[in-house]
Amino acid sequence: MGDLTVNPTGAALGAFVDGVDLSEPLSETDRLYVQGAFWEHSVLVFRHQELTEAQQVVFSRYLCDPVAHPTNVTNVGELPEICIIANVEEDGKAVGALGNSEVTFHADLAFYPTPGTVSVLYAVEAPNNSGHTSWSSGIAAYDALDAQSKDRLEDVRIVYSHRRSDYRSADPVIHPLVCTHPESGRKTLYFSSNHAASVVDEDEAESESLIDRLRSYTAEERFTWTHHWRPGDLVVWDNRSTQHRRSHVDESKRRYMRRTQAVGTPDGALAPQQEDV
Ligand code: SIN
Repeated sequence: MGDLTVNPTGAALGAFVDGVDLSEPLSETDRLYVQGAFWEHSVLVFRHQELTEAQQVVFSRYLCDPVAHPTNVTNVGELPEICIIANVEEDGKAVGALGNSEVTFHADLAFYPTPGTVSVLYAVEAPNNSGHTSWSSGIAAYDALDAQSKDRLEDVRIVYSHRRSDYRSADPVIHPLVCTHPESGRKTLYFSSNHAASVVDEDEAESESLIDRLRSYTAEERFTWTHHWRPGDLVVWDNRSTQHRRSHVDESKRRYMRRTQAVGTPDGALAPQQEDV
């Protein structure tokens, strides 16, 4: 295993992985160790990395099968698997998505039939005073439920939608709330606060009430951890067992991040349109 160490944050999720240079291929032993740590902690932070786009894609492939981002199609890197998240403009045009905006809790691409599974974000430039990213653990949130609530939520299914109509699928997108993570076998609440639209088979009042309760419950501090970025940080997270949010970015500072992502289903099941073929 060489010098590679995994140091948990001490919060409900997240660990720092030290002693590894991701610009070099990982040995089989290190790869397995990193995979195991990822399924255990849901968010891994690698600091002091100097990575090209190609090296980021190679690292991403150890944990997932990265694809071109399905919606962020205008802010692409040189490689199709890379998209850019940045507040930087060139010739008056944004070179990346999200700008300086605060982004509230969500799981990536939950509004898709095949939502985000693994996301990898690498900080080329990052201010230390803003643009912090927080994750909340669906596994810790599920584990903390009492038996009655686990029972109540077991078969709940949520309809997800994006506020932008051009990002919406033709058919309603529905995902189960309680999922078994396909790699770790742990039960998790799969939920995306800012894409959740309604609860299947509930009237409007109960649907709104349950979504509101899930929004505040899953955001409780005991389930969350915040990362303060530095240039050279690479963070990988699992959207099947986490949500994340980002604080507003100080517009006087540059923030330029490269991202890779994979898609699938929250519990590893075939997506509806794949079942049909
Ligand atoms: C995101 O919400 O995926 C962006 C996270 C970030 O910019 O830190």
